[in-house]
Amino acid sequence: MTRRILVTSALPNANGDIHLGHLLEHIQTDIWVRFQRLRGHQVTYVCADDTHGTATMLKAEQERTTPEALIEKVRQAHARDFEGFLVGHDNYYSTHSNENRECAELIYSRLKDAGLIFTRTVEQLYDPERKMFLADRFVKGTCPNCGKDDQYGDNCEACGATYDATELGEPRSLISGATPVLNESEHYFFDLGQYTDFLKDWLASGHVQPEVANKLQEWLGDGLRPWDISRDAPYFGFVIPGTTDKYFYVWMDAPIGYMASFKHYAASRNDVAFEDYWDAGSDAELHHFIGKDIVNFHALFWPAVLDASGFRTPTRIHTHGFVTVDGKKMSKSRGTFVNAATYLAHLEPEYLRYYYAAKLNGTVDDIDINLEDFVARVNSDLVGKVVNIASRCAGFITKHFDGRLAGALHDPALFERFTAAAEGIAERYEKGDTARAVREITALADQANQYIAEHAPWAMIKEDGRRDDVQAVCSQGINLFRVLMVYLKPILPRLAADSEAFLQIDPLRWQDLDAPLLDHGIAPFKALFARMEKDAVDRMIEASREEAAPKADAAPKSDATAKAAPAEPQGSAEITIDDFAKVELRVARVMKAEPVEGADKLLRLTLDVGELGERNVFAGIKEAYDAGSLDGRLVVVVANLAPRKMRFGVSEGMVLAAGPGGSSVFVLSPDSGAEPGMVVR
Ligand code: MSP
Ligand code: ZN
Repeated sequence: MTRRILVTSALPNANGDIHLGHLLEHIQTDIWVRFQRLRGHQVTYVCADDTHGTATMLKAEQERTTPEALIEKVRQAHARDFEGFLVGHDNYYSTHSNENRECAELIYSRLKDAGLIFTRTVEQLYDPERKMFLADRFVKGTCPNCGKDDQYGDNCEACGATYDATELGEPRSLISGATPVLNESEHYFFDLGQYTDFLKDWLASGHVQPEVANKLQEWLGDGLRPWDISRDAPYFGFVIPGTTDKYFYVWMDAPIGYMASFKHYAASRNDVAFEDYWDAGSDAELHHFIGKDIVNFHALFWPAVLDASGFRTPTRIHTHGFVTVDGKKMSKSRGTFVNAATYLAHLEPEYLRYYYAAKLNGTVDDIDINLEDFVARVNSDLVGKVVNIASRCAGFITKHFDGRLAGALHDPALFERFTAAAEGIAERYEKGDTARAVREITALADQANQYIAEHAPWAMIKEDGRRDDVQAVCSQGINLFRVLMVYLKPILPRLAADSEAFLQIDPLRWQDLDAPLLDHGIAPFKALFARMEKDAVDRMIEASREEAAPKADAAPKSDATAKAAPAEPQGSAEITIDDFAKVELRVARVMKAEPVEGADKLLRLTLDVGELGERNVFAGIKEAYDAGSLDGRLVVVVANLAPRKMRFGVSEGMVLAAGPGGSSVFVLSPDSGAEPGMVVR
């Protein structure tokens, strides 16, 4: 049965370049799309740029242009980048489109009619100079937990504490540098809480990976809070109908952008119709590919919004992890924050497609690009194994047999083993476990090479009366190569197309697997795939480093923060001895220091504080101390600090340390002889 499938990748933000992280997602999606097409299904793959929000507005200002001009320029650059990686979106659109406005307004009106929209007054930091409300990422100040300066309005990168922007010490607006004030404004909310039970069922029905479902069920346990879907002017976006100065929050109309892009595409086609794919009860499939950071929006808000407005919900949400390079987060200063265009100036797109495919296993685990392994893997698998089969056989066919393949298979059982792997490999593709598919395919390639080595056509050709055997063995090899190319075609579309030209055949299809090429003419062999050079990788990293050189590591959240804020007064206020006496410092012994999953900078310390018992403390010292290295050490702890709930648990104190931070941190220790629990004065 032919499936009708609509597939999307998350919409990249219009305020930055396409980089290795986006590419993971679009390559993963594209492989899945190409696989489904190869199997004969009807697939539409759409995407768009996510254009709305404060960041776009500010960036356009910085570049002295209009948001509209800015986003169109970026959209074209993004589309070009993806094309360069052979990612075949059927439509690469924009959320700032008429279709998206219409869809967003329609959905909003249906939510409203269903009684799911209400308003409430919200207090928020406001920039009195720029006259605008400030999202958390546009405010910085001193962490209320650890005192580290220059922290964003939602959480501290040094200690991991989460807090409200209003709790920051010495807050400043990143837009004007002014000190923000609290201001009130009316916001529009979607009553997501009414969807708690619906989402519990939905998540339990196989629409997301099990680990994602488990994580989200935790949230649902507490019941869902209403979702704030409005933002105040000035904002770049769509005005909420019935208001003049309220805009849809960017995350409200962003997923609707999937719909809008498809709508635009469908209008130009007679083989797909909008309603067939989006109406409630549609039997078409809807698949979203996303990163783990945006899973709430896709697996909670989006299905609820769709259902509440009378549309179908997604069939499956495929969530992937984050790209790291050589085991670390991509970094501009290390040159590992590689943009698509920079990559393409040095390396072939299929190297990356293959490497990602070899690593993606359908889970949300992060994907590490180990640069040594990248080169080794591509060369050994693709050049050394797969293409090698064709290059070892083709020369004999061209030179001695006028380019003609033999009329029968030399080892039908071996061929049969190759084609019998098809269903297993298909299942891996379907589930997104391309790592396993690749392992199975390269294991077959090993068998093909072994077969050729055993029969050694290069020796046979020198023996009398073995001409036919040479033709038969080489033809068998070419046929094994052909089967492997069918399996690899979703991952390596360019190599597949070049192989089709070499084999002089129509585009390979999954359903033709079983039919070997017999008594068939092939073209003279030309190198199908260039070896990957480590030097080129090094040059790419160097180029990325240079591009980033004038700036430091860009702030992870927004371009707007690159704008320098006015210097703040340094130093600290005086306190009295009584103030100091309020701080209870105690000696403690580190019983255990463990890494904290999801926090690069934190260690979880279990402290023995003598008579005060055991304490659990999170300390931002991981870059300076290995997990085990503190065990048994005496430290000084602030024992009467109010417990603080962090993302990872509750922190019950603070360990004293000196130094600016990062790897330059020095934990303070009393001399030996001090006992856990002793008061420090
Ligand atoms: N605009 C939103 C998505 C809206 S979808 C309706 C957004 N944009 S983004 O540009 O920040 O990210 C786009 C996608 O790229 C997300 O799925 C995100 O997870 C993914 N990646 C961005 N950086 C990444 C890595 N370093 N590694 C892997 N994927 C990451 O979120
Ligand atoms: Zn902090």
